[in-house]
Amino acid sequence: MSLNEALQKTLDWITHATGAQTLILSEGWIVLGLMILVIAAVVMGRKLITAVLTLRALALTPTFSRRLSKWVKSYAYSDEEFVRADGGGERWVALRTQAIDRLAGFFQTRYAKSIAWGDGIRESFSDLRFTDANRVPFPFMRVMREKFNLCSVVTASDGPKLLDLDGQWTLDVSGSYGLNVAGFDRYKEWMHKGWEQVKDLGPVLGPLHPIVADNIALLKTISHTDEVSFHMSGTEAVMAAVRMARFNTRRKLIVCFSGAYHGWWDGVQAGLGSERELTDCLTLKDLHPASLALIRWRAQEIAAVLINPVQSFHPNSPPPSDTVLLTSAMRKTEESSTSYAEWLRQLRDVCTACDIPLIFDEVYTGFRLAPGGAQEYFGVRADLVVYGKTVAGGMPIGVVCGKRELMKRFDSEHPMRIAYVIGTFSAHPLVMGAMNEFLRWVTQPDTAQVYDTARQRCARWVQATNQQLAASALPLRVVHFGTVWTVLFKEPSRYNWLLQYYLRAEGVTLSWVGTGRCLSSLDFTEDDYQELQDKLLRAARTMRSDAWWLSEEQQPGREKIMRSHLFWEMVGSLVRVPAPRVPAPLKNFYTEIMRRKHDDHVASHSNIINQFFHLLSSSVFIYCYVLIFSDLTLAMSLGLAALFVRQIGHAILEPPCHDKEELLLGLNTRKKTMVVGGYLLLPVIHLVSAGSVTMETLGATIPVVAWQWLLMTLAVVGGHVSYLAWKHDLRSAMIWFVKLATDPLTDIAAYYTSPSRLMQAIQARKGEAL
Ligand SMILES: Cc1ncc(COP(=O)(O)O)c(C=O)c1O
Repeated sequence: MSLNEALQKTLDWITHATGAQTLILSEGWIVLGLMILVIAAVVMGRKLITAVLTLRALALTPTFSRRLSKWVKSYAYSDEEFVRADGGGERWVALRTQAIDRLAGFFQTRYAKSIAWGDGIRESFSDLRFTDANRVPFPFMRVMREKFNLCSVVTASDGPKLLDLDGQWTLDVSGSYGLNVAGFDRYKEWMHKGWEQVKDLGPVLGPLHPIVADNIALLKTISHTDEVSFHMSGTEAVMAAVRMARFNTRRKLIVCFSGAYHGWWDGVQAGLGSERELTDCLTLKDLHPASLALIRWRAQEIAAVLINPVQSFHPNSPPPSDTVLLTSAMRKTEESSTSYAEWLRQLRDVCTACDIPLIFDEVYTGFRLAPGGAQEYFGVRADLVVYGKTVAGGMPIGVVCGKRELMKRFDSEHPMRIAYVIGTFSAHPLVMGAMNEFLRWVTQPDTAQVYDTARQRCARWVQATNQQLAASALPLRVVHFGTVWTVLFKEPSRYNWLLQYYLRAEGVTLSWVGTGRCLSSLDFTEDDYQELQDKLLRAARTMRSDAWWLSEEQQPGREKIMRSHLFWEMVGSLVRVPAPRVPAPLKNFYTEIMRRKHDDHVASHSNIINQFFHLLSSSVFIYCYVLIFSDLTLAMSLGLAALFVRQIGHAILEPPCHDKEELLLGLNTRKKTMVVGGYLLLPVIHLVSAGSVTMETLGATIPVVAWQWLLMTLAVVGGHVSYLAWKHDLRSAMIWFVKLATDPLTDIAAYYTSPSRLMQAIQARKGEAL
């Protein structure tokens, strides 16, 4: 049957079925074409709406930062750039330099054994190298690594105190990445008693210890779910929950929220941290109605919505660490959790209405905010709940609790369809023993009171500490969420992250994210909090007196200067093109010239006034390089005046010479001053031989003198090149020549900030005089 016959038959059938007028073949083609167009338009329209809604709801920061990470090139500050990163004036730079050396010296003596131990294993222990690398913004890293290289090595705990290898007791606010909720002494007891419960069995895996049933019952009650599965870490449990949600809903997409951390699995890492392109995980804006609209619209594709409730503390921001403490604006935290609770309720309603499983990743918040975790704290129930960290009483763990229909790992109708999710160490007896001790403690009626007391104590500490900080006009505050707290900086600064080092010097142990997220365990007493407050205040005061936080009066326009420094650094790092392949001899030639310029800078250009003179004279020289082709007289006169200014700067403001210059070039300031004297002598000779010392005679002879100056310059430069070629070799001679000719350009690049620094120094002097 041809296409035409098939179409005609269909038309006959339609007219017969609808009783409509008979349709002829050509009309049929039109109708068919229209139908195809309508279907295409509907499909395209739907795709367009999906794209628009997705774009509205999608958090762009993770994708953007991932792309940016491929472009930003590494760069490291020199010692000097380190202390000048915010454009701070000379006086502050001097204070900061002393401070860094003092602090580094203090750590080297106080933590000598720990540092030596860390140095011994750093190259072999990749985990330590990773955490080290993330503590400090990368341009500052080289200096910090060279001068500090700290390592926390501990041998005992007592309450919230840790004993390190050097015999010092420090106050621990790291919370062992969130494990230490109840206080180390309790965990020691639970691990011990847990082992007592299972020691007759030992590490038998496969057959189960009876204690497992007790744990399952307790976990079901706490999580309000039907089933439980055990894993070895939080990351593993998140992977299991997501996989089970996908398996049981037969959908692919997972929804996460911007900034939320769910472990190191790349399936949920949309932003920095993973290189894998994520096509099955949408990262949406937290607390945003567009996200709710998108979840509704794409409900048929979404296997689960995954949230980390600790985000209520800092929605849409990355997990806090000291590397993001650059500006105060980046460190806003949510004042109240009420709006987050409301957001969770809305999410819950949308998920229920669209039949999408809601997963609470309570690896961090479970048993920290309240005995019943975030579900209890916010009054919202989830369909799957993931626990980890503290729930095994100090042992490694990951747990998934969930509704029966979501926990299935096999398909009763398709026996070959399974979700293979299981691991060797699931339900390890020792882990189960310690977990049992913990779960029995956390479900005791009195325990809720312990949580309440701890929350109130932390809240009081935050209030009292903020009063003290405000009274001392220190630019930081503390905020808390239960017993999780963080330092909030009131002013943007390039150095806020340094506070972690001052706190360490005071004897506070922080995790590798520094002051970004700190934890107090439930056994923190009033005395511990008082000690913490004293340490925090002392650290902050020292940091201020070491000039890392400057006020607007101390450094006028500081915020603008700082931002512009940072902006240009970033641009420089982004647009840096790959170095062209330069032949090695040329590269070495260039390096040698730059090295000598640097030596000059260090040895005889340290004075700001001299730097300013160099800026002036270099600008004039460059002008003269051009002018000489049209007005030789003016060019030579200006050039000589500039040379004079330059030499005055050297002769008066700097030490006589640097040894290297004398040794290599046979030049010192005295000889250079004599050359300048020679130039000045020429017009004098002309005036004397003319027998008339007037401006008129000078004006008449100056064009001739200018020619002689030029010849003299060629003779001096050519003579010195020949001398160097004879004494050393042609290469050394050419190095000197190219350096000399390009000095004006590099001096401008090096000293263009000297006027503003000079102004700052003058203002600071005035301030001191007052
Ligand atoms: C919310 C959340 N989920 C998952 C994880 C990963 O847990 P683990 O480090 O035990 O793999 C963490 C760890 O910090 C976490 O905070």
